[in-house]
Amino acid sequence: MNTMVLAERVRKSFGHVDVLKGIDIEVHTGEVLCLIGPSGSGKSTFLRCVNNLETIDSGHIWVDGDLIGYDVRGRRLHHLKESAARRQRRDIGMVFQHFELFPHMTALENIVLSPIAVRGVPRAAAVERARHLLGKVGLADRADFYPSQLSGGQQQRVAIARALAMEPKLMLFDEPTSGLDPELVDEVLAVMGELAADGMTMIVVTHELGFARDVADTITFMADGVIVESGPPEQVIANPQHERTRSFLRRVRAETGAQATEGRSV
Ligand SMILES: Nc1ncnc2c1ncn2[C@@H]1O[C@H](COP(=O)(O)OP(=O)(O)O)[C@@H](O)[C@H]1O
Ligand SMILES: [Mg+2]
Repeated sequence: MNTMVLAERVRKSFGHVDVLKGIDIEVHTGEVLCLIGPSGSGKSTFLRCVNNLETIDSGHIWVDGDLIGYDVRGRRLHHLKESAARRQRRDIGMVFQHFELFPHMTALENIVLSPIAVRGVPRAAAVERARHLLGKVGLADRADFYPSQLSGGQQQRVAIARALAMEPKLMLFDEPTSGLDPELVDEVLAVMGELAADGMTMIVVTHELGFARDVADTITFMADGVIVESGPPEQVIANPQHERTRSFLRRVRAETGAQATEGRSV
């Protein structure tokens, strides 16, 4: 089985706050890893390190065999130049909690922007692919709408289409449904579930336990910058080994209502 993401002993501090204290993660190509854990445990920081938006202090991250952020010359590591860092980043799609679409551009224009500007895709081809992607996220009829004319769930689906337009080999999601009204969560999770079924490799930070249970190959529970436990959903969600995992799951279920989130079909 091919490895898409391999993180080894990744450490990261901000000032004297140790945020990541030696993270080891492996995601095989075509698999979905859901990263769960309390607020402040370092989940977003880890995703930003994978995407080369933050540099790490020690350890290694490889994506599809590329060492992220560094260039190996002889036996020494050198920080990548910004142009090379950007090249690594453009192969990795990222969707955030706040969908950050450009407000003065239609859904279609938001999607074609980077393929044309960054990848040099001819406009006609970029538009054709954008329409195809809008269809995939269920918004074929919204191409010419501005973000303000779309619901939060629709905007987030456009954001997913926009990330996919760059033909990423890996998609990172950072709480993609946390900013949405509850009734809009399912439509976004459904699109993510289809993407997973199509074979996209994904790391998803989420509190949606139903999604994690149904879609994840691996669930990794992180707290205070360390991985407490990791395994298939039937282990981590149904039969957690650590008290910290159990108390976290209890809290999430109490906040979201287990019925509501785990009864969802995606
Ligand atoms: N740019 C930054 N500068 C300083 N501290 C940061 C920065 N980004 C994150 N942190 C700190 O790192 C810790 C982990 O944050 P984060 O990765 O956002 O956690 P999570 O996504 O799990 O909620 C928090 O204590 C946060 O305040
Ligand atoms: Mg976060």
